[in-house]
Amino acid sequence: MQIIEVNTKSRPSKVYCGEGAAEKFSELYAGCDAFVVTDANVARLYAARIGELFPHAPVCVVPAGERSKNRNTLFKILDAMFAAQLHRSSVVVALGGGVIGDMAGLAAALYMRGTRLVQVPTTLLAQVDSSVGGKTAIDYAGVKNAVGAFYQPETVLCDPAFLHTLPPREVKCGLGEVLKTGILDAAIGEKLWESRERLSDLSYLSELAADCIRFKARIVAEDERESGARRCLNLGHTTGHALELAYGRRSHGEYVLIGMWLESFIAEREGVCTPAHAQYVRDTVALVQPRIPVFKDARACVKYALLDKKNSARGAVSLTLSAGKGEWKVLALSAEKYADYLGMLEGGR
Ligand SMILES: NC(=O)c1ccc[n+]([C@@H]2O[C@H](COP(=O)([O-])OP(=O)(O)OC[C@H]3O[C@@H](n4cnc5c(N)ncnc54)[C@H](O)[C@@H]3O)[C@@H](O)[C@H]2O)c1
Ligand SMILES: [Zn+2]
Repeated sequence: MQIIEVNTKSRPSKVYCGEGAAEKFSELYAGCDAFVVTDANVARLYAARIGELFPHAPVCVVPAGERSKNRNTLFKILDAMFAAQLHRSSVVVALGGGVIGDMAGLAAALYMRGTRLVQVPTTLLAQVDSSVGGKTAIDYAGVKNAVGAFYQPETVLCDPAFLHTLPPREVKCGLGEVLKTGILDAAIGEKLWESRERLSDLSYLSELAADCIRFKARIVAEDERESGARRCLNLGHTTGHALELAYGRRSHGEYVLIGMWLESFIAEREGVCTPAHAQYVRDTVALVQPRIPVFKDARACVKYALLDKKNSARGAVSLTLSAGKGEWKVLALSAEKYADYLGMLEGGR
């Protein structure tokens, strides 16, 4: 088992990564009042396991999926926390994918101005990305993650045993964030290419997860509140989030892959990277997303991109672009220009 420290100023966290990580809970939190938040799929698949890992804890089960990442579900969780009479030293356990991690994390931040929080990520996406770094949120007023807080978990228990029940589509979704990390970090990128035949091998993915967590831990420790280095993690996300809000059918990681594909053309044509590097980004995306689907009326998604939290000027869309292996740059484009680039998605590839 690997232990990765995330040395943020607000609260340092420890990530336990490897087989048996989930069992660490009983050792680390013996005698604490735990409260588990999970979704209906995880509750069904892991009913017995939840009883073993968190024997006396109340379990709050909410509907699965991005659609439930809203204020109704958030307040349902808070209601259940009050009903269970939690106190500030109770431990909220976010057991699930990124949706549960973001929502239960926000509930933990809000309840009595903050309870203790442990993330137990059960999807590849949550293991490699969302459970680490302390971003919590719900979607609101048509904007992704519009209402939220930075709230670090004390502990993240990243156990690959949960990945065996993940549908292939969710593995692909997690690979979206793994590839993003590979584009941002030259060494991880090289490793990904060398081992591209093994990207569906779950034991190999948990090794890659540890690399991605170490990378994110370093970035988040340097810039917890996203005023500098952390902005690199938004690669592919301006377009990804806009498409996710407009079309909604696919999952977050798939939209990030499509976002990185489109934004590689923007980087190339706006002089941010060489054509060869833009091709490298597209080839990397193609390792898991060989075909880019057609999005009818993609240009209209500009209205969602204009609502993005990352923008700093009215009427402009801010994008994190890959500038070279291990290099990135933030670029602001006028809405008209960005809409023209979105038009490339209307043809598909
Ligand atoms: N906080 C952050 O830094 C951060 C980073 C990246 C993404 N996110 C957020 O994460 C969310 C996406 O996360 P996600 O892809 O994990 O989605 P998710 O939580 O909706 O999980 C995807 C699906 O997998 C199911 N599932 C979960 N664990 C399972 C398991 N072990 N076996 C079988 N099925 C399982 C879920 O019920 C759900 O249907 C988005 O809302 C995104 O905004 C947050
Ligand atoms: Zn993401």
